[in-house]
Amino acid sequence: MTGFTAHAVAALSFAIGMSAMIASVPAEAAEDDVALAFPADYKTEFTHYLTADRQNGTQIISIYANDIALNGARGDGKLPYGSILVGELTPALKDADGEPMQSMLGHLIGAEEMAAIAVMQRIEGNDAKWGEDLKVGDWAFDVFSPDGENLGKDTTSCRECHTPLTDSEFLYSYEHLAMKPLE
Ligand code: HEC
Repeated sequence: MTGFTAHAVAALSFAIGMSAMIASVPAEAAEDDVALAFPADYKTEFTHYLTADRQNGTQIISIYANDIALNGARGDGKLPYGSILVGELTPALKDADGEPMQSMLGHLIGAEEMAAIAVMQRIEGNDAKWGEDLKVGDWAFDVFSPDGENLGKDTTSCRECHTPLTDSEFLYSYEHLAMKPLE
């Protein structure tokens, strides 16, 4: 068998393995979390409070909050049930070597098309079905395509990253939303 054929066979069996894996995953959001509705009116009804390069260095995030979240954060500092945050994720332009490109200002330069929309919504009792290490203040997570289709992502990894943030209502951008530094 030539190297090329061996590679093709390996790629084929990987593809078969992947489709078997995909077939075993439910099409809807993982059954251990609720499937969120897409907040279709976020561009007109929510407040945009931050656009920044993501910590992953390859994307830009643009974040919106509904009035419940905004008034809570800028009031007593808590985000009540019904709070919704929307993060538009846009890939950065890449150079010929595939490296993200920066502007004169040292910021990533966003591509024309958004990649996905990440949503967090605080729903009473949502943590009940998760183990201690994945409880995250009753926030539910989901990811949508730019046109609002629920991508049915397993939200375990979302929880893993956001769960340590107990001083900031489990948000990374809390200080921008509340317009004050953490105490
Ligand atoms: C590797 C760690 C990590 C994972 C995994 C992760 N997040 Fe985040 N998230 C962050 C960081 C860091 C930010 C701040 C902006 C940025 O750098 O992306 C953030 C910001 C957000 C925001 C804006 C509100 C805030 O907290 O500032 C939303 C909404 C969000 N994430 C949703 C999700 C969803 C939905 C998932 C799962 C599909 C997810 N996140 C998975 C680290 C993570």
